Amino acid sequence: MSKFGESNYDLATCQLRHATQADAKFLGKELAKIDPWKTLKSTPQEFEEGFQSQSTSTNTYAVISQEKPVGVISVRYPWLLGPYLGFLGIIPEAQGSGLGKVLMNWLEETAKEHSARNVFICVSDFNKDAQVFYKSCGYQEVANLDGLIVDEYAELLLRKRLS
Ligand SMILES: CC(C)(COP(=O)(O)OP(=O)(O)OC[C@H]1O[C@@H](n2cnc3c(N)ncnc32)[C@H](O)[C@@H]1OP(=O)(O)O)[C@@H](O)C(=O)NCCC(=O)NCCS
Repeated sequence: MSKFGESNYDLATCQLRHATQADAKFLGKELAKIDPWKTLKSTPQEFEEGFQSQSTSTNTYAVISQEKPVGVISVRYPWLLGPYLGFLGIIPEAQGSGLGKVLMNWLEETAKEHSARNVFICVSDFNKDAQVFYKSCGYQEVANLDGLIVDEYAELLLRKRLS
């Protein structure tokens, strides 16, 4: 089982659960509307399907706050001597209230419990707000992956050393 493989987690200000179909449908519709996914042309349908799929190495959770789905976090583990954060999105109404920080803290603390040495994330080069957020969490750019998702934009690979 993946180290991040529980079906539920209770965090300080939210819960994580494997997404129900209703969670995935709602969150797919809301997150496909906003950047970076709007620019990357992700669709509500692909998100709805992706948010419900689990594998031995990847767990995807709906973020629940005040009993409502407000975001998605997906973690691949193991990746490169630590987890890879494959998806993080909070719907606009719930942004800026500390959920992102709580989720990053959970990711890093869980990784440390399993002696991971690193955490990795990709962020689109045009997504300046998220770059500010990740830098404030201690992440540094280690590679520029041009054309990774679409020809016009690069993805920046960010790393945080845990040890
Ligand atoms: C990026 C994101 C995950 C951050 O989550 P959040 O819940 O909004 O962030 P928090 O409220 O926990 O903020 C944490 C810190 O980051 C800062 N921050 C968050 N969003 C920011 C932004 N857009 N611009 C500048 N700073 C930002 C906050 O000011 C806060 O700083 P503080 O700890 O000094 O007070 C969320 O805003 C989001 O989903 N954005 C749209 C999708 C996206 O870009 N996802 C990342 C794809 S790689």
